[in-house]
Amino acid sequence: MRADQEDFPGRLFIVEGIDGSGKSTQLSLLQKWLESEGYGTYFSEWNSSPLVRDVTRRAKKKRMFTPMTFSLIHATDFADRSERHIIPPLKAGAIVLADRYAYTAFARDVARGVNARWVRNLYRFAVTPTIGFYFRISADEAVKRIVGGRDAISYYEAGIDSTHIEDIEESFRVFQGSVIDEYDRMVDEFGLVVIDANQSIEDQQAQMRDAVAKTLDGAPRMEPRS
Ligand SMILES: Nc1ncnc2c1ncn2[C@@H]1O[C@H](COP(=O)(O)OP(=O)(O)O)[C@@H](O)[C@H]1O
Ligand SMILES: [Mg+2]
Repeated sequence: MRADQEDFPGRLFIVEGIDGSGKSTQLSLLQKWLESEGYGTYFSEWNSSPLVRDVTRRAKKKRMFTPMTFSLIHATDFADRSERHIIPPLKAGAIVLADRYAYTAFARDVARGVNARWVRNLYRFAVTPTIGFYFRISADEAVKRIVGGRDAISYYEAGIDSTHIEDIEESFRVFQGSVIDEYDRMVDEFGLVVIDANQSIEDQQAQMRDAVAKTLDGAPRMEPRS
């Protein structure tokens, strides 16, 4: 990854972890807090670039992806997001909050059988985050939170393309287990800050704020509203 984030006046905080680990909950609380402290924030999420949205949707529906083409389409999505929605606000001094980052590709694509070095090299244009948070939780616990919660687990989320297990929840558990192994490997490699995602929402948020606060010296604040 690029190491020039220190040239930018903004900060980049990203959250990682399997589906249901509580990333979005925590990032949205962090955003509210930063705003209340007078910082300008900018939110960006995985799989959000309009550039490849239609192609991705169609190819998912028809289950056309191989691990490599799936990886490349995500990298394209991320490159577009990076150039339009991550680097410009960082240059403008904003605090960018990213829900999933390149580590999602490293974890999922490698769990699908893509070469670890190849995918890391593919994402070398990514700006190194100020802090990368990893919400660690077991696949069983995550399933409990997801089932009955948000939308049904999809074919690719459950990794059926790689596990070939028909039962969607069972496939999710197996696939997410491999994704967790990849995340665990990345903690030391990339210095991710691990948050025990079994804790209460409040406790996790307090730990995030402590870590973030230590990096905010000199970050631009907006003029107070009069
Ligand atoms: N600490 C927690 N304890 C119990 N449930 C939680 C906790 N954090 C989030 N949840 C719930 O778990 C579900 C998944 O949370 P979410 O933030 O959407 O996870 P993610 O973005 O990682 O998929 C939501 O229903 C959310 O309300
Ligand atoms: Mg989420």
